[in-house]
Amino acid sequence: MTQTATARAHPNIAFIKYWGNMDDELRLPANSSISMNLDGLYTETTVTWQPNLQQDTLILNDEPQHGVALQRVSLHLDALRQRLGIEGYAAVSSQNNFPMGTGIASSAAAFAALTLAACVAAGKNLSERELSTLARLGSGSASRSIPDGFVQWHAGDTHETSYAESVAPATYWNIVDIVAIVSSQHKTVTSQHGHPTANTSDLQPARVAKAAQRLQQVKQAILERDFATFADIVELDSNLMHAVMMTSRPPLFYWRPATLAIMEAVRQWRTDGLQVCYTLDAGPNVHCICTAEHADEVRKRLHRFSEIEQTLVAKAGGAAHIISG
Ligand code: DP6
Repeated sequence: MTQTATARAHPNIAFIKYWGNMDDELRLPANSSISMNLDGLYTETTVTWQPNLQQDTLILNDEPQHGVALQRVSLHLDALRQRLGIEGYAAVSSQNNFPMGTGIASSAAAFAALTLAACVAAGKNLSERELSTLARLGSGSASRSIPDGFVQWHAGDTHETSYAESVAPATYWNIVDIVAIVSSQHKTVTSQHGHPTANTSDLQPARVAKAAQRLQQVKQAILERDFATFADIVELDSNLMHAVMMTSRPPLFYWRPATLAIMEAVRQWRTDGLQVCYTLDAGPNVHCICTAEHADEVRKRLHRFSEIEQTLVAKAGGAAHIISG
């Protein structure tokens, strides 16, 4: 019997970053992290378990895949087959409505949607925590795309204890991520290949040492809707991660000249009274986090930069969910 399900998941933007693992294979991170799901941007994935298939298949944005993308999906399906006792191969079809490989964590939404659809299609009724641990095996940040809204990923020290949970629902705080796309070209070094280099930086132990403290400050700021404290720590944490990246061997430089120009402008706008701060993932694009009240003004000012190809606007998004199946 063919069993099928379709799931939708949002990408997320980390306010306290995940960078570097204690265990690369299980994706047990060096530190706990916290993020916000991005409403409006999503990956929608259909998984069909088919007894007559000879191997897993993957269609990504309408194009059949044969290389590394299929390999990574198939490896994740292997983990699900093994841990959940699922038999047979799967036909996977996935669509993104946002550009991939640009510092918008496409792997987070992808592996959250894949995990949920695969488990439901196999008739497995799992808790949110279990789904989050399983999604983590495919991509660390995918664990954070399973729960609703503002989400903390507890680093843990085993497969079972490394999971994400919601700290506040999407409706809790009306902040917006305006992503300034400086380059939509596929990035050269993916997060997956970046994480193992984190420990080659002398700065990684210093970043990790106070990550828990910064996480508590950001979590508290979210719960109190205290934008000033939030902005201060979110920018610091992003800078610390990029300092680690730049001092790794080989070094990773994700910024373009426009990236720094926008970061400096954002700080100036905050001094001028706008509630806005920046954070960057493993890419050149600048995520400008602002209160909904100031979003129009921030967007208007961003569009004065000729280097910005486009902006994407997202408020806090909900949990990964089933569309059909
Ligand atoms: C810089 O979750 O994409 O976006 O587990 O190898 O898939 P893999 O890495 P990934 O790493 C995300 C890194 C980051 C920071 C973050 O989202 O916390």
